Amino acid sequence: MSIHSTKQEVARRRTFAIISHPDAGKTTLTEKILLFAGAIQIAGSVKARKASRHAASDWMEIEKQRGISVASSVMQMEYQDCVINLLDTPGHQDFSEDTYRVLTAVDAALMVIDAANGVEPQTIRLLEVCRARNTPIITFINKLDREVKPPLDLIQEVESHLRMDVVPFSWPIGMGKQFAGVFDVQLDRMRLFQSGRDRRPEQEDQTIEGLNNPELEQKFGQAFLQAREEIELLQAASPAFDHEAFLAGRQTPVFFGSAINNFGVQEVLEALVKYAPAPGPRQALERTVNPDEGKFTGVVFKVQANMDPAHRDRVAFVRVSSGQFNRGMRLKVSRNQKEIRPNNVVSFLSQRRELVEEAFAGDVIGIPNHGILHLGDVLTEGEVLHFTGLPFFAPELFQAVEVKDPLRTKQLRTGLTQLGEEGAIQVFRPVAAGATLLLGAVGQLQFEVVIHRLKTEYGVEARLMPARFTLARWVTADDPKVLAKFLDANAAQIAYDVVEAPAYLAGSPAQLRVVQDRYPDVQFHTMREHG
Ligand code: G4P
Repeated sequence: MSIHSTKQEVARRRTFAIISHPDAGKTTLTEKILLFAGAIQIAGSVKARKASRHAASDWMEIEKQRGISVASSVMQMEYQDCVINLLDTPGHQDFSEDTYRVLTAVDAALMVIDAANGVEPQTIRLLEVCRARNTPIITFINKLDREVKPPLDLIQEVESHLRMDVVPFSWPIGMGKQFAGVFDVQLDRMRLFQSGRDRRPEQEDQTIEGLNNPELEQKFGQAFLQAREEIELLQAASPAFDHEAFLAGRQTPVFFGSAINNFGVQEVLEALVKYAPAPGPRQALERTVNPDEGKFTGVVFKVQANMDPAHRDRVAFVRVSSGQFNRGMRLKVSRNQKEIRPNNVVSFLSQRRELVEEAFAGDVIGIPNHGILHLGDVLTEGEVLHFTGLPFFAPELFQAVEVKDPLRTKQLRTGLTQLGEEGAIQVFRPVAAGATLLLGAVGQLQFEVVIHRLKTEYGVEARLMPARFTLARWVTADDPKVLAKFLDANAAQIAYDVVEAPAYLAGSPAQLRVVQDRYPDVQFHTMREHG
């Protein structure tokens, strides 16, 4: 049992995700954070589990070890009396939908930028999701041990993409082979760079106090003089760090470092503990849910097929929103009022899957089930609640799907419905008579994975065929009659998704514009929120 009250437990939770473009250093930084928090002893264990981002065949191979990927997708550790939940986001960009949903379950994000490349496309999309939710962001600019972009340019790039004020907490002195370390602007001292350590350092970094200390100029010459000029420039130009502005998503503290060399990692971890918010209230349609209230509530933000494909069991990842979860308690699913009594719920303490004894707001628990829990489901002790905000994005790629053996049509439907519920792919049922089911994806790899899983998990040989659609928009209208009329008049272009939400399918952006002009009272959405 916990020695803390629920309120104290909530106050010491920090739940965050790392967002980055592939190769910026997310895996390396994750590993180093675990190392500094004492959750692992030697770096290498996360790296070994990193899913391939390149080929479907590699992904399938990784899939065979799905238990491992389940276990490493949430990592819990303790640091300075805080309980840190680090939620992994899939590395492959084809799974970015999954990433967006993971971002709904965190209270802060750590953005990693490769200093040689600056802000890259995939980071921008993830940032938009964070911005839409005003998620506070801490920025880590990585790989200063390489020849990289000038730091002032990087800062400017971050500022223009994030559309928030950037407050450098540290500033690099030199780069690449000449990388000497960073100047800690807050503490007014320089930390000297040391390279290549994969164990938690026993000793503190070497430091030199004071921006005006002559020793710095003596030791680092021109590189230091330039850095000092930049620091002074920034101190005059950028605002001081304001905690409220950070929490509101209007300011981001920036750190420079080199994850592979453990350099700058501790500062980021300390900033997370010190500045990132504890879990806050969540807005349900019915009422505001406070994290420290007595009763348990939680939301399923991710569903992942589990180890044994033959049994089709899945793990629902539930972010606790309030109260305390205890093993064996009865929970009610708000969607259909069904009661579940999960016994073998797992927690994710430092990557080992362990049976959970208790969990508080901000924690993630994994509930194995056979399909009873869907994405977006709310679990409570009895109250009916609906949380909004779990996003589904309009697919950008479409394929029609057909079963090779017509006798297995039913299995195809079952398989696709379940994979759709899991969020692996979006499934659309066109209204037009005789039309085959349509699959919608954000990335090409999703199709391959679905065909593979249909075969191995449902015994269905399915084949993909080109679809005549290239984009979809969910449609709504304030007046139900307007919507009904629209759906009727455009039946050949309408399809329903797994939750029976209607979507308009178009062959080209021009076609979409024409209907948008013709039906000004119908709203076309690129994103659907569950709830
Ligand atoms: P990701 O999860 O964001 O995709 O990135 P990951 O951590 O795998 O890092 C991508 C590459 O960048 C890796 O090299 C990693 O070693 C390297 N890297 C990470 N941090 C730093 C750093 O601070 N400095 C430098 N110079 N490199 C860094 P790789 O060649 O793809 O893999 P590996 O052969 O090192 O395992």
